[in-house]
Amino acid sequence: MVTATAPGKVILAGEHAVVYGRPAIAAPVWQVVATATITAAAPGAGCTLIASDLGQVLQLADAGDDEPLAVVTRLTLARLGVAHMPDWRIELRSDIPIASGLGSGAALSTALVRAIFARLGQPAPPAVVSELVYESERFYHGVPSGIDNTVVAYGQPIWFVKGQPPEPFMLAAPILLAIADTGIRSPTVLTVSKVREAWLQDRPRYEAIFDAIGDLVHAARRALEQGDPSALGGLFNANQALLQSMGVSCDAIETLVAAARAAGASGAKLSGAGGGGNIIALVEPTTAPAVHAALVAAGARRVIVTALGA
Ligand code: PMV
Repeated sequence: MVTATAPGKVILAGEHAVVYGRPAIAAPVWQVVATATITAAAPGAGCTLIASDLGQVLQLADAGDDEPLAVVTRLTLARLGVAHMPDWRIELRSDIPIASGLGSGAALSTALVRAIFARLGQPAPPAVVSELVYESERFYHGVPSGIDNTVVAYGQPIWFVKGQPPEPFMLAAPILLAIADTGIRSPTVLTVSKVREAWLQDRPRYEAIFDAIGDLVHAARRALEQGDPSALGGLFNANQALLQSMGVSCDAIETLVAAARAAGASGAKLSGAGGGGNIIALVEPTTAPAVHAALVAAGARRVIVTALGA
């Protein structure tokens, strides 16, 4: 039996604009994980994928090309030169809420790819894992920037520009985040296509927003590399205002963001595609309990307080 895991993720700055070539910063969140376990099945049983959290049981031989988990399994087997269908039972579990901006799809696929490599006794370089997962991400995102598969496969904070090799980087000092779930599921593909339509209607306005986001992502990197969290809080707030002006926020997000700020967070923003999903708030050990309580009181379904870069 082999087991592999992969973390969830947050986008600290730059979501959506990253689809249009601007940089973004993302970091793994190890408090929530996806796990893939492969055990041998009876000879001739073929390969069964069981994703209980998604309510899915797939027989690999019969699964269509619209099933991301089947697609990533086939791609990985082909990449490793496996010509015959293996007799495997693959179980996938995840405590990452789906369609909530925490990279659940990328994490499930990453755990799956890593488990297949491990089962076949092969090392799994992050760049190769990321490339294979990207193929399956296309089903969740339409035309994804590649940031989710990259941060989840590398398992480190990354500076990401579409089409360029990612730059894993070190935080000068750990930062503490409260991650709060609105409980509203919002498929990334819908929000990304909504932004595309708006961009097609008014390119100058959207390009200006994307440029402003790109500038603040550069400033966020400086703040993270210099260990200056006070600057970072203001940048979270500026990023949120720009995301709101793009039409990807919603009432539930605004409620949680306002509650976190009022309770002492130095900044808060949506993280991921928006339209629901999770927000992140920058806190200190002293403000974390009050922000946690305020987020729960404001209706958050789940709040995780986590240190990044520790
Ligand atoms: O999967 P999410 O919700 O974290 O969104 C990914 C980030 C986007 O910039 C909205 C889309 C993309 O492909 O980069």
